[in-house]
Amino acid sequence: MATVLLEGRGDLTEWREAARPLLLAGTPPRGIDWRCRSDAAGDLFGADAGVADLSSPGRAIVTSGASLTVPKAFLSLAQAVICHSDPLRFQLLYRVLFRLQGERALLEVVSDADVAQLRAMEKSVRRDCHKMTAFVRFKEFDIGEGHARRRFLAWFEPDHHIVSRVAPFFQRRFTDMDWIIATPRGTAAWDGESLSVSTEPAENPMLTDSTDMLWRTYFSSIFNPARLKVKMMMTEMPKKYWKNLPEAGLIPGLIAGAEASVIAMAERAASEAPLFHQRLQAVAQAEPEIAQPPAGTLEELREEARHCTRCALHCRATQTVFGEGPQDAAVMIVGEQPGDQEDLAGRPFVGPAGAVFNKVAQDVGLDRKDTYVTNAVKHFKYEPRGKRRIHQKPNVGEVQHCKWWLTRELALVKPKLVVAMGSTALMALTDSRQRLADLRGEMLQIDAGQSLLVTVHPAYLLRIPDEGRRMEEMARFRSDIARAAEFGRKISPAGGRSSAMDDIRP
Ligand code: URA
Repeated sequence: MATVLLEGRGDLTEWREAARPLLLAGTPPRGIDWRCRSDAAGDLFGADAGVADLSSPGRAIVTSGASLTVPKAFLSLAQAVICHSDPLRFQLLYRVLFRLQGERALLEVVSDADVAQLRAMEKSVRRDCHKMTAFVRFKEFDIGEGHARRRFLAWFEPDHHIVSRVAPFFQRRFTDMDWIIATPRGTAAWDGESLSVSTEPAENPMLTDSTDMLWRTYFSSIFNPARLKVKMMMTEMPKKYWKNLPEAGLIPGLIAGAEASVIAMAERAASEAPLFHQRLQAVAQAEPEIAQPPAGTLEELREEARHCTRCALHCRATQTVFGEGPQDAAVMIVGEQPGDQEDLAGRPFVGPAGAVFNKVAQDVGLDRKDTYVTNAVKHFKYEPRGKRRIHQKPNVGEVQHCKWWLTRELALVKPKLVVAMGSTALMALTDSRQRLADLRGEMLQIDAGQSLLVTVHPAYLLRIPDEGRRMEEMARFRSDIARAAEFGRKISPAGGRSSAMDDIRP
């Protein structure tokens, strides 16, 4: 029986160098006794004469130059499993390595007991790593002389030998401060230039500082009693970590008071229903709409649309933003929905995307006062975030509801050319989910005597970060709008709509 003694602190190379010669010599798994210095039992055997101690290179088991191949998947699995604290990990890894020589697809056999055990160990190591990234709490310690950067210390108690595996994460995340993470399974330290990792066990420095209070304040303010699921919370934040988490002391009190807080919240909500909910309730209780005779003019239609409650978007929006432009316009531009500024002004395309469109239209000779400009959706959809209102794309249902208005605008204006700016407009005008990129720049026939030109939305141009690409896309947009302008000019050379429309070919 060959006996191998390893340091066993999560170093795959150490195990690999021991396993390779044994495997080359054809040593079966049951012929090796794997022992580990870092496990309690390992120490008992540290002085055994027959033990091959791999921590001192002179005593390593004979290696040979011959090479062995293993599936890549095994190596990545082994890298995680070697960090596990179970003393049987070396033996299990060797057994699987040995079997892989004859069973190349072994790792795919999920029902195999060895493979299942390896996977379970890998999962436990990954989970431990994840917990370390989530639960390390740094505390600032004495700056001392000669330290330009702030210095932080953290104490964490991992289940496995994961310090060197997780240290690069902290290096990336906290690169601008000096830190040390001490654990009973080793220490990692970063000084702005180098990351050092030692596997020597450290002792709990028992530090506390003002950031403990900050953690507690943060935790109690993000705690939502209405969302409390105690079981899930315990899985996410197992009790064994609590002793090193400054905020954990609050948990029992928060859980105990959750029910009362929810009742108090519900009572507050009932007495101070926000406008949004009041409007929603009004829609739910409203009398069913009685079909009205169709509006005869754009002005009548606009007036009707002012009171639109066809979908919930009106509840949050300031007002309906209806289309604008002459009823006999030859070209109709359709955007997505009003933005923040349009919602406040009550007019389409007056904000940043409108500025892009207006400039391009002016440059290429598309006169906005001769053009009908509208949107697929007439209310601003947004998500409040602090004092800002963040644009949200309307969903298919909202576009369908609002199509009621767009169809009537099309019927009254009867444009010869409709320009769909963006995918929402394209969907509203064609009822299809075709990709905008596939139809971009095409002149499509949508109705008798009515063409559709598809282009991007000007807001898209504002979001392209790369200057060069933005210029390219801007040029394409300009040429699309120039085509629309040219179309309009052919139809109504002097601004009014020409009577000789039959000459027009898209
Ligand atoms: N984006 C649109 O689609 N329409 C507007 O009116 C403004 C921004």
